[in-house]
Amino acid sequence: MKIAVVGAGYVGLVTGACFAELGNDVVCVDIEEDKIKNLNNNIIPIFEPGLEELLIKNRKKGKISFTTDLKKSIKESDIIFICVGTPPKKNGEADLSYVEDVARTIADVMDSYKIIVEKSTVPVETGDKIAKSIKSYNAHKVDFDVVSNPEFLREGSAVNDFMHPDRIVIGCESERAKDIMKKLYSPLKAPIIFTDIKSAEIIKHASNSFLAAKISFINAIASICEAAGADVEKVAEGMGYDKRIGRSFLDAGIGYGGFCFPKDAEAFIRISEKFGYDFSLLKAVQEINNNQRNHFVSKIEKALWIVKGKTIGILGLAFKPNTDDMRFAPSVDIITELQKEGAKIKAYDPKAMEKSKGILKNIEYCSNTYDAAKDADALVIVTEWDEFKEIDMKRIKSLMKHPLIIDGRNIYRLEDMKNDGFTYISIGRKEVH
Ligand code: UDX
Ligand code: UDX
Repeated sequence: MKIAVVGAGYVGLVTGACFAELGNDVVCVDIEEDKIKNLNNNIIPIFEPGLEELLIKNRKKGKISFTTDLKKSIKESDIIFICVGTPPKKNGEADLSYVEDVARTIADVMDSYKIIVEKSTVPVETGDKIAKSIKSYNAHKVDFDVVSNPEFLREGSAVNDFMHPDRIVIGCESERAKDIMKKLYSPLKAPIIFTDIKSAEIIKHASNSFLAAKISFINAIASICEAAGADVEKVAEGMGYDKRIGRSFLDAGIGYGGFCFPKDAEAFIRISEKFGYDFSLLKAVQEINNNQRNHFVSKIEKALWIVKGKTIGILGLAFKPNTDDMRFAPSVDIITELQKEGAKIKAYDPKAMEKSKGILKNIEYCSNTYDAAKDADALVIVTEWDEFKEIDMKRIKSLMKHPLIIDGRNIYRLEDMKNDGFTYISIGRKEVH
């Protein structure tokens, strides 16, 4: 099938690359000329495991191309995926102006039947609004269908999530579009849930909010564990064996970040308000998440006593491992707070340092973990990259001014840290001295 993917960001590039890999003819469109120029020179703007290989391979095969020409791409495609950003406005609502721009351009230029798919995360009723907008600007008076097909791609494993989804959700109100979407996704052999458009839109917000709630729940339990002297890892394990609960998304830490959970939870609260429902549960989820970061900074302050003048080595800047994405990364708040108090920050991240340089200033960026630990009064784990789990603790200890590790992701065993002679402070577990 001929597919246009509008918006070559995290979601658009993964979607485009994977549809090309499945044998479709894909054109990825973006307004940023530099981005398209780079993509046409095999320079991929983001780090996402497996993405570069897929894009380069399928570009060589002629299955995927990159352009800024939105009008031509619309005309030449059967299905148009809208993957432009839906960033939060000041009041927390999703800004849908980019989505609307694309919808109006589609209406203006389409001259044959098209399926317009909303892939970006949007509030319920956006599908109706897109349809209404296209209908009123439909210059050539052609048939079209709007479909909601939310993405469930986790950064760091997005290609794998696309190719092996737990489910595919398709909100669609015409048999014609339903048949085409079914055929498009048939190579993936995953369960397809067909719903009306509004339900599909709510599935996306409800899923992300539920996962955010799971994280805040375990972070609340972690605080109780700390006070009671219990171990949150054991609690999560014990809870997780219950199939009704499940172990995933019960990792206590410094709270969720990234471009999805924080903004989606906020947007869902705003949408609910508009419908007259006070989503107090989700507000509590947010509050716990925000407190979790402050709580972590307090642990660092308490461990160092006086932060001013101390050198703190930070391991991990990206909001999660296997990505270079710094959007709503907890590292930004944590480092900014420590800098305000006069700490000297050294930091290392395997992939996110370039992006971090545009956001966090006055940091000594290091070339590896050991450089970050050198002469540090404390080493702080912010992102659980695999390489941090395998470091030589004896070497770290010999490099640091003081053997103090404060771990926001619980990546080390308490016994090991005790045996290696560290003061080790983590989340929801006993302190090791
Ligand atoms: C996406 C979704 O849009 C968002 O709703 C979801 O919650 C997370 O994933 P993402 O792919 O991460 O966002 O966004 P981003 O990396 O910012 O990419 C959006 C792209 O759209 C950018 O490359 C931007 O240049 C492009 N764009 C934006 C257009 O091509 N046209 C526009 O009018 C606006
Ligand atoms: C999320 C959704 O999972 C995905 O389906 C899609 O809708 C896009 O948004 P993403 O934000 O890329 O994906 O990563 P995810 O793995 O969901 O992690 C989000 C945040 O939660 C990260 O900051 C992560 O560190 C945190 N997290 C996750 C925890 O703190 N504990 C956990 O147990 C799991």
